[in-house]
Amino acid sequence: MNPFAPFPALRPRRLRQADWIRRLTAETHVRRDDLIWALIIHDGRQARMPVAAMPGVERLDIDSAVGAAIEAREAGIPAIALFPHIDSAKKDGAGAEATNPDGLVARAVKAMKAAAPEVGLMVDVALDPYTDHGHDGVLKDGRILNDESVARLVDQAVLLAEAGADIIAPSDMMDGRIGAIRAALEKAGKQDTLILSYAAKYASAFYGPYREAIGSAKALTGDKKTYQMDPANSDEALKECALDVAEGADMLMVKPGLAYLDIILRVKEAFALPTFAFQVSGEYAMIKAAAANGWIEEERAILETLTAFKRAGADGVVTYFAKQAAELLI
Ligand code: PBG
Repeated sequence: MNPFAPFPALRPRRLRQADWIRRLTAETHVRRDDLIWALIIHDGRQARMPVAAMPGVERLDIDSAVGAAIEAREAGIPAIALFPHIDSAKKDGAGAEATNPDGLVARAVKAMKAAAPEVGLMVDVALDPYTDHGHDGVLKDGRILNDESVARLVDQAVLLAEAGADIIAPSDMMDGRIGAIRAALEKAGKQDTLILSYAAKYASAFYGPYREAIGSAKALTGDKKTYQMDPANSDEALKECALDVAEGADMLMVKPGLAYLDIILRVKEAFALPTFAFQVSGEYAMIKAAAANGWIEEERAILETLTAFKRAGADGVVTYFAKQAAELLI
């Protein structure tokens, strides 16, 4: 049954005739509180190094990352997500540097938490920044070994929690890693550490610029299709989320964002848990490149995409635009 009066009694444009009425009737709002700022850090000498494929994004040294944490606090951004670019001389087949207690991310977490303890810090758990083959897990005879990888990821997660990370975010897509990490955190006395699982993570072309940002582009042999999901699948995302929730995930991530709004909607409806979208490097680069050419309006495109994630049901968005967006939002 159609409950609406027919035209001309109902004229939907009445509600769109002026800015004040559009603001009053807007169904979705993006706020600074919805932002997680994706930040690249490096162990190089320069304070800041531009990432060519991501104009406006720079790899930061630890001092600059501390400055960014203070900026986040001042801008009202609740949390930062850290991604490391590791010197290629420190990469090896096993990703040994991932479990160096004095490694880049652990040191950055300590310094940032000391300077701006009010800002939540989220860290990626995966081996790809540290392996010379660029895969997220342990590679043997051309295969990614699941359980051997999980054992390494557990060590990485505990080490980062002990360094002071607030949110552990496994982005590796190995089976059983959330349960193993949760149990290890509990054992280590880290029962308050949050887990935001990259539960529905797709094997996507939109990670391209990120691989330049963290220096794994040249390294990567083959693709990640034996662990990351097929973009054709939707029911499978619910299965992945259900397992991670049962294993102890506090929050869920859908990644990439814009091409997967239907997945965000289904995940939010199915689990009613805090659900985040990751506006990944390729999404960032497309907006920046088109805007640089004068083909789209950058600020409008940023706000429109962030609004789309919220409208689809996301509670928040991990985005390289966070700092720029915060200036446009309340
Ligand atoms: C890998 C990881 C990736 C991203 C975050 N963690 C890339 C990949 O899975 O290949 C992508 C982030 C982005 O594109 O912005 N553990």
